[in-house]
Amino acid sequence: MSRIVYVNGEYLPEEEAKVSVFDRGFLFADGVYEVTSVLGGKLLDFEGHARRLRRSLDELDMPTPEAMDDLLEIHRELVARNSIVDGMVYLQITRGAPADRDFAFPGAEVPPTLVLFTQSKPGLAESPAAERGIRVISIPDIRWGRRDIKTVQLLYPSMGKMMAKAAGADDAWMIEDGAVTEGTSNNAYIVKGGKIITRNLGTEILHGITRAAVLRFAREAQMEVEERPFTLAEAQEADEAFITSASTFVMPVVAIDDATLGDGTPGPVARRLREIYLDESRKTAI
Ligand code: PDD
Repeated sequence: MSRIVYVNGEYLPEEEAKVSVFDRGFLFADGVYEVTSVLGGKLLDFEGHARRLRRSLDELDMPTPEAMDDLLEIHRELVARNSIVDGMVYLQITRGAPADRDFAFPGAEVPPTLVLFTQSKPGLAESPAAERGIRVISIPDIRWGRRDIKTVQLLYPSMGKMMAKAAGADDAWMIEDGAVTEGTSNNAYIVKGGKIITRNLGTEILHGITRAAVLRFAREAQMEVEERPFTLAEAQEADEAFITSASTFVMPVVAIDDATLGDGTPGPVARRLREIYLDESRKTAI
């Protein structure tokens, strides 16, 4: 049975789903996206992702698809039609497909393109990587200046993952002006003396939905949180480190470049936060 995807109001087998070659997402990376994880057939933090999506559209003056109010229903329908137990729903909106390639934005007559699809990842929350911890390398952050908008300009993050792979690591942390911004597709944290330190919000990083939830749970559990930039050297001397994202939840980091953190296994704070995040998010999943 082929996967059913959603394109501009229709549920179609993936082989029949088509987007124009003039689509601005394809030609200009003129699009925004969201990834929402699914555990036990339910969506985690759907409202947070929907809110950030609206903000991304507003920041880019991108038109809102007619189906904007039906997004929850479309997500649920795709999860059901594709029998997703654990996995994710990917959503992308682009500025649509005008008649020709033109740098200037098209007029209101061109409707945005809305695409959603699912990816099945059985056992997503029981990842062996979370038991082991991941290794990251550091790379310069050469992305554009509005990283708070979740655009589909993902070439450099893809290159970062390839650089990590070539170095025998799992991911890369990006460095700007001496400080860590974030991971290629996740937010970055260190733990020192029991305190959780992560980059403060701004245009330099994506405002992670998992980040917001994890920091809230950490504070509720009386853990100390400091939101500020931290350097690579500080990270390499930390007791532990971890990343967060919709697809990895809370994932321990055990090495940064040549520096091994602690005893090279996932630290207690990262482990505890992963457990709390998964428990609490499952409770409120819809
Ligand atoms: N990435 N920072 C960047 C650059 C990201 O691409 C992501 C998410 C995050 C974490 O955000 P959230 O907690 O809302 O998932 C931070 C998604 C998962 C992706 O591109 O697949």
